[in-house]
Amino acid sequence: MNREQRKQAVAQAALDYVRPGLERHSVLGVGTGSTANLFIDLLGTIKAEVPATVSSSEASAQRLRDHGIPVYDLNAVDTVQVYVDGADECNRRLELIKGGGAALTREKIVAAVAEEFVCICDDSKLVSELGNFPLPVEVIPMARSHVSRELVKLGGDPVYREGVVTDNGNVIVDVYHFPIADPRQTELSINTIAGVVSNGLFALRPADILLLGADSGVRKLSATG
Ligand code: 5RP
Repeated sequence: MNREQRKQAVAQAALDYVRPGLERHSVLGVGTGSTANLFIDLLGTIKAEVPATVSSSEASAQRLRDHGIPVYDLNAVDTVQVYVDGADECNRRLELIKGGGAALTREKIVAAVAEEFVCICDDSKLVSELGNFPLPVEVIPMARSHVSRELVKLGGDPVYREGVVTDNGNVIVDVYHFPIADPRQTELSINTIAGVVSNGLFALRPADILLLGADSGVRKLSATG
């Protein structure tokens, strides 16, 4: 299977995973990116079974609406039973790097609300130590230089993502060559820098289930082993 086929297989596996409870799941969280798009398109084939969604980006919300699937403001719902989203990197503890599509803050918010977070990606994203993928950090625009200087002090090599404005009106700094031996501590440390909105480490709230598209089929890893 090539990479696209593995992404398609994992999107289908996510649908198979959530579908039995979909009508009971009053709200389904839907993420952002090319793998999440494949999942959205599959949802479109069973839209009568999808009562309500919340989305981690304007782009995904529009794609859901284009399929005729209802999208709600997160403030209008009490709970999100399942959240399905991709990742840029993952490890066996189900800690993630996300934000390649600049949606990290809304992704983190939906993941925080969700009772279960199902992460879907092809197996090229599985690494022994996070950090080969540059870590996205969403920053208030006026703090970009300050935050970058502080990220250098933490050992990283920050690069402003030119021309990108997030759905929240902020900018993205990608941190290259960043040693992430302790993802939880690194997530906390970056969050304490004034001007940081959020960072793309999902270690304090990792995924609960990881579906990995591999040549041999879809592998399932869970937080409980
Ligand atoms: C967007 C994300 C995506 O989940 C991540 O970039 C993976 O995207 P893709 O499925 O296209 O590889 O975090 O902010």
